[in-house]
Amino acid sequence: MRLGVNIDHVATVREARKTHEPSPVFAALLAQKAGADQITLHLREDRRHIQDRDLELIKELVILPVNLEMAPVEEMKDIALRVKPDRITLVPERREEITTEGGLDVLSMKDYLIGFINDIKDAGIEVSMFVEADREQISASKEVEADAVEIHTGRYANLWNEHNFQEVRKELERIREASLYAKSLGLRVYAGHGLTYQNVKDFLELGDCIEELNIGHSIIANAVIMGLEQAVSTMKELIK
Ligand code: PXP
Repeated sequence: MRLGVNIDHVATVREARKTHEPSPVFAALLAQKAGADQITLHLREDRRHIQDRDLELIKELVILPVNLEMAPVEEMKDIALRVKPDRITLVPERREEITTEGGLDVLSMKDYLIGFINDIKDAGIEVSMFVEADREQISASKEVEADAVEIHTGRYANLWNEHNFQEVRKELERIREASLYAKSLGLRVYAGHGLTYQNVKDFLELGDCIEELNIGHSIIANAVIMGLEQAVSTMKELIK
């Protein structure tokens, strides 16, 4: 499985102070150096973390494929056509949500999405749909001519956090079935949301049907904790 590293929450820390550090661009380059297979970032309509300039610089400086998560709205389409990431992933977006809740309802937006996706595919950009492990949403993704689906793993992650391991097994099976179905339709299959250093292990058994995982929050959270000791001792040295 490939690893897409989502660097949004580096920008979340920066935006907490509206300053210049930490830089998601620098984080993307470090993730590349550490072996990431892709850089993923979500340009939200409210710009709460990643800013347009971050996207432009990352596209310019990072050699890895860049996967832009975005809402299916005209403003974002124009940005995608200008910056040309390697892939866009269409996600639902609500301003009041803390993070992306649930997958995109492709079924109810089919007519709108057909035109939207066409323009982006014409520019040579791969199009992926962030959907629940649901056959109808996957079929609709095929009908609107998406290239890929990313299966939402939030329910799996929540069950794991509750230590409800019986339901975790069932959810893994549901994801496996959905992924195999998507694959049988000729879609590429990715997954992500809420994956951590603990719950990713069970997920690896789906390696035969899922090509790539996109992981953000847990990697950035661990980077803060693992890097804190060094950061404090460097400041202490300076003050001494
Ligand atoms: N995939 C998609 C489509 C997402 O929207 C997100 C969150 O931005 C992720 C993966 C990564 O989720 P997390 O930050 O929980 O690892």
